Amino acid sequence: MSFDRSIKIAPSILSADFANFGEEIRAIEAQGADWVHVDVMDGHFVPNLTFGPPAVKAFRPHVTTFMDVHLMIAPVDPYIEAYAEAGADMITAHWEAGPHPHRTLQAIKATGKMAGISLNPGTPAAVISELLDLVDMVLVMSVNPGFGGQKFIPTSVEKVRQVREMIGDREIMIQVDGGVDPNTVGPLVAAGADCFVAGSAVFKGGSVDNPAPYGENIRAIRAAAQGALKDVA
Ligand code: DX5
Ligand code: ZN
Repeated sequence: MSFDRSIKIAPSILSADFANFGEEIRAIEAQGADWVHVDVMDGHFVPNLTFGPPAVKAFRPHVTTFMDVHLMIAPVDPYIEAYAEAGADMITAHWEAGPHPHRTLQAIKATGKMAGISLNPGTPAAVISELLDLVDMVLVMSVNPGFGGQKFIPTSVEKVRQVREMIGDREIMIQVDGGVDPNTVGPLVAAGADCFVAGSAVFKGGSVDNPAPYGENIRAIRAAAQGALKDVA
């Protein structure tokens, strides 16, 4: 994938019907999702459990866009290859997952996949200054990771602005994850973010039998983001 500065909406399948992932993935893509965001949780780094590599591998054939795998696991290094082999396009690890985030990013790059580094709400932007040449994306968490449907933490906007300033001319995307909806997305775009994960704000009101609300929800987030982009341009 070449560098793409456009607004990207990445629905999190954490908010999908867990008995029906294939159809849910097809539905969100048909309704306009740019990426599919897969939240991997280990019950240790975060207080919730989700998908091992075999589950992610099972999702892969249903994804025709881009599979964005967010690893909320510690340790993370022993599992990178397995998630790469499962078919991730982007692998994002947390800065807080261990003492060697630089080594973690080298390991992701060695698989040939795109690499992301994620920051919890309590972690300052400055910690990634020595990692920027190794990443394709910085993920600013705007909730404490572990669950969908939490309230957006407003100080995330200032953190996005700081990350954007640190990035300078580098070709690095900024993703925001947690509580993103048509109301919160505008200030994030103005601060320099371009990729938005949304779980509850995309899946609310819809289902595989009634997928139109997914499309309406995605279009509402995109319209608010693009409106804010025009304002900064
Ligand atoms: C939180 C996950 C998110 C979550 C977002 O730990 O990383 O991707 O599913 O859900 P919403 O959009 O509902 O806050
Ligand atoms: Zn996520």
